[in-house]
Amino acid sequence: MKFSSTVLLALASYAVADTVTCSSSQQCPEEKPCCSLYGECGTGSYCLGPCNPKFSYNLTSCAPAPICKSGEHQFTSTDKIISNTKYLGNADEYDFVVNNDIVTYDSSVLLTMANGSTGTVLTSTRAVWYGKVSATLKTSRTQGVVSSFILMSGVRDEIDYEFIGSFLETAQTNYYWQENLDYTQSRNISLSDTFENFHTYEIDWTEESITWSVDGQAGRVLKRDDTWNATTKRYDFPQTPSFLQVSIWPGGLASNAEGTRNWAGGYVNWDAEDLKDPGYFYVTLKDISINCYDAPANTPSDGSNSYVYTDVAGLSSNVKLSGDGTVLGSFSAVGFDMDKGSDNNIAEVSGSVPTGMGSGNNHSADDSSDIPTASVISISSVKKTTSSQSLADVTGTVSTTTKHTSSTKSVSIEDAKATSSAQATDAASSNTAEATAAATTSAVGGFEQSSSDSTTSAAAANGAVKVFASVFALGATALAAVLVI
Ligand SMILES: *[C@@H]1O[C@H](CO)[C@@H](O)[C@H](O)[C@H]1NC(C)=O
Ligand SMILES: *[C@@H]1O[C@H](CO)[C@@H](O)[C@H](O)[C@H]1NC(C)=O
Ligand SMILES: *[C@@H]1O[C@H](CO)[C@@H](O)[C@H](O)[C@H]1NC(C)=O
Ligand SMILES: *[C@@H]1O[C@H](CO)[C@@H](O)[C@H](O)[C@H]1NC(C)=O
Ligand SMILES: *[C@@H]1O[C@H](CO)[C@@H](O)[C@H](O)[C@H]1NC(C)=O
Repeated sequence: MKFSSTVLLALASYAVADTVTCSSSQQCPEEKPCCSLYGECGTGSYCLGPCNPKFSYNLTSCAPAPICKSGEHQFTSTDKIISNTKYLGNADEYDFVVNNDIVTYDSSVLLTMANGSTGTVLTSTRAVWYGKVSATLKTSRTQGVVSSFILMSGVRDEIDYEFIGSFLETAQTNYYWQENLDYTQSRNISLSDTFENFHTYEIDWTEESITWSVDGQAGRVLKRDDTWNATTKRYDFPQTPSFLQVSIWPGGLASNAEGTRNWAGGYVNWDAEDLKDPGYFYVTLKDISINCYDAPANTPSDGSNSYVYTDVAGLSSNVKLSGDGTVLGSFSAVGFDMDKGSDNNIAEVSGSVPTGMGSGNNHSADDSSDIPTASVISISSVKKTTSSQSLADVTGTVSTTTKHTSSTKSVSIEDAKATSSAQATDAASSNTAEATAAATTSAVGGFEQSSSDSTTSAAAANGAVKVFASVFALGATALAAVLVI
C-alpha cells in the first residue's frame, strides 16, 4: 500500500492546523494529554522525557521516568542512541534520544545545526534524582549559536551550562526552579577556548547544594539555603528527577525575542565558515558520565523502576519511587493508557513526536511567540566514520549516504533532506507505529525531496526553512503542497 498524496495532504493540514499548546494557564486536552518541553500537547514521545505533569491533562498523563543508572558513555559509536521518532521508553536498550542529525567523528559524536535549522538535542533516556553528572565536549562557535549541557526536569527545574558562540572563553552557569525564569542567577566560569578544547563539565547535585566544576575544579557552588524565597516560603532550588540534555540551538534567530538574541550574542551568522565546511555548526561530544545518588530519605517507594509524581505541585516531596513500567505500547499511548495501540500498531497520525528548539530555555521575558511551532525535525542520523576521516570527509559521507536513503530501508544518515523521502518510504511500506510517527514528523517538519537529489544537508535544512516560511505565510495548504509525492 502506498500513502496517496491525499492522505499526506490531510495529514499535513491536520498536523499544522491542530497544534495544541500548553502552559501554566492552559493544560492539554484529554486526547493529547502530554505537555512537551516545548509547550505542545501530544501523545507518544510527548509523554516521555521531561514531559510536564503540571501542564499536561492530569497527573498520570506523562509516563513514569526511568530511574537513574550510573554509567560511563563513550561516544565512539551511536549504538545506544535512538531517534525520537522511534523511541518508546525502553531505557534498558537505549541511553540517549536525539531529535536530529548526529554523526560520529574521531571517537565523538557531532550534534549538528545546518543552515537555517533549529539544531539538535540529545536527551538521556533515564532521569537523575540527585547525582554527579559530567560531559566532555567542545562547544560550537559563532555568534547567535548556543551550546548547552543541562539537567532538565518535567516541572522545569533546570541546572545549566550554556555557551555562547561568540564568547568562547566563558561557560555560563545557571539554574531555574519550575521555570521561574530569573536570569539574574547566571554566573560565569572562565576557561580556555571551548570550541578548540575539550573540557569536562560537571554538575554535582545534592539536596543541599549544586557544584559546577570544569576539569575537576569547582567554579561555582550554590547552596539550597541561599535560594529561600521569603514570599512563597520555599526553596527555589532544583529538586525533581531530571534528564541530561546536550544541545546546539539558534539563540540568535531573527524570530526570537530580542532578549534571547542579545544574550546569544546577536543574530546567527548563517554565512559562517562552519556552514561551508563541514556544512553545519556542531557540538563535539566525547563522553557523558552519570553517578546516581540515592533518592531523599523518606521518599515513598513501591518499586525501583521509575520516578512518578504524586502531586502536580512538583516538589521533591511529590515524587515517589515506583515499580511502574516506562515503555509505551505505541506512539498513541500515554501515561494513563501505556499499552494503547500496542496490539494493532495503529498510532495517532499527529502529535506523537514533539517539535522544538535545542533548548527549552528561551531567555525571553514575556514573549512566547518566539518559539517556532514547527521546526526542522529529521530522524536521527547514525553514521560511523573512521577517526582518520576529516570533517570534510564526514560531510561528503553525509551527502553521499543521503543519496541512498530512498533505495535502502536501513538508512545510516537521514538528514533534514532525506527525511521526507525516507519517511514517505516508511509510511508506504509498513504499518508500524514507527512509520506513522515518521509520517507525522514529515507532516510537521519535512518537505519534498527527490531521491536522486544530491544537495547538501545544509541546503536541505534551508529548504525546510523556506517551507516553514510558506506555512506561516500561506497556512497549512502550502505545507501540504510540498508533501505531495
Ligand atoms: C487522567 O485521565 C485519564 C483519562 O480520563 C484517567 O483514566 C486517569 O485516571 C486520570 N488520572 C488521574 C490521576 O486522575
Ligand atoms: C558572562 O560572560 C558574558 C560574555 O563574556 C557576558 O556578556 C555576561 O555579562 C557575563 N555574565 C555575568 C553574570 O558576569
Ligand atoms: C519568589 O517566588 C515568586 C513566585 O514564584 C517569584 O515571582 C519571585 O521572583 C521569587 N523571588 C525570588 C527572590 O526569586
Ligand atoms: C545559508 O542560507 C542563506 C539563506 O538561503 C544563504 O543566504 C547563505 O548563504 C547560506 N549560507 C551558506 C554558508 O551557504
Ligand atoms: C518562553 O518564554 C515564555 C515567557 O517567559 C514562556 O511563556 C514560554 O513557555 C517559554 N518557552 C519555552 C520553550 O521555554
